[in-house]
Amino acid sequence: MTDKNFVPSVYSNETNEGKVTFKSPSNIALVKYWGKKESQIPANPSISFTLDACATTTSISYKKLKEKGSSFSFDLLFEGKPMESFKPKITTFFERIENYLPFLKDYNFTIETSNSFPHSSGIASSASGMSALALGLMAIEKELNPEMEQEYFIKKASFLARLGSGSACRSIEGDLIQWGKHGEIDGSSDLYGIKYPYEVHSVFKNYHDTILLVDKGQKQVSSTVGHDLMHNHPFAINRFDQAHRNLTKLKKVFAEGDLKSFVEIVESEALTLHAMMMTSLPYFVLMKPNTLEIINKIWAFRESSGTNVCFTLDAGANVHVLYPEAEKEEAFQFIKNELVAFCENGQYLCDRIGFGAKKL
Ligand code: DP6
Repeated sequence: MTDKNFVPSVYSNETNEGKVTFKSPSNIALVKYWGKKESQIPANPSISFTLDACATTTSISYKKLKEKGSSFSFDLLFEGKPMESFKPKITTFFERIENYLPFLKDYNFTIETSNSFPHSSGIASSASGMSALALGLMAIEKELNPEMEQEYFIKKASFLARLGSGSACRSIEGDLIQWGKHGEIDGSSDLYGIKYPYEVHSVFKNYHDTILLVDKGQKQVSSTVGHDLMHNHPFAINRFDQAHRNLTKLKKVFAEGDLKSFVEIVESEALTLHAMMMTSLPYFVLMKPNTLEIINKIWAFRESSGTNVCFTLDAGANVHVLYPEAEKEEAFQFIKNELVAFCENGQYLCDRIGFGAKKL
């Protein structure tokens, strides 16, 4: 498939007004996407667990204009209140996708969006937010083209979400989503995420992710700036190769349920992501002292308990603590007793693997 497959031909139906609502989850990358080319093409393939509780709900009310507008016409409400500051991001998104959704200037849209997690939690909402928006727009396109197949709907939703925010293309479905061309993963594409197509051991089916909110402040480095740092980065080529190799290794790990190797790959990916930021120009340290305290506690606990509790990080100080269902009691006791003290105001979010976005 190429991007041309997502340019629609003439629509067979008309719709004057309506409303669509989608709830779309966040996701947590196991192999990280960090670095991109033109048009939101990832520099390396990535894979993530789709989450469940951390989600964005977005409604789009649409009303046909008397004539096609010269610019996009939309209002944006975040948690019930007009949010002007979010509008430029949506305008950029609309500009990027207009070629694939030629009806965008034919309507006025009222976009109402809210997150299940606190706005200032330091949890990125771009994956859940952009995927919910992309799905809503696809539901409108389906009104205009009722014959559209479900498989195409999902692919194009992921394709559009990617143009909003790369990681958002991994939030349409669950529970393990791969994005980016990889020689040993059939059907993989730089254009959209796919359900991981190979055997996955049951131990990976009910994974938990407890998100420790170490620093709820504004992101120190936006993802756009962060991805840009990988251009001319001295270690970029090795890093991109490493992501390919880690995905190859994960094939066996997922099939066999090899938790030891899983932990090693996931933690190494998180630390490599941060190492890339520490070794770019300009350089950044995005961990906080409490991030390191937590990492050390996790390592000590894993050693003493013989469990497989591990961590991963995004481009910030918060820590995602990952553990299988069978270890949940022990892991949760440990988190409460030893890790919550390092969270800002003791705050954390309990999440787990989820199965993708839902139409409401
Ligand atoms: C560290 O998807 O937020 O979370 O495409 O610029 O919107 P943009 O970037 P974004 O980057 C996410 C980076 C990451 C790793 C990951 O989710 O794979």
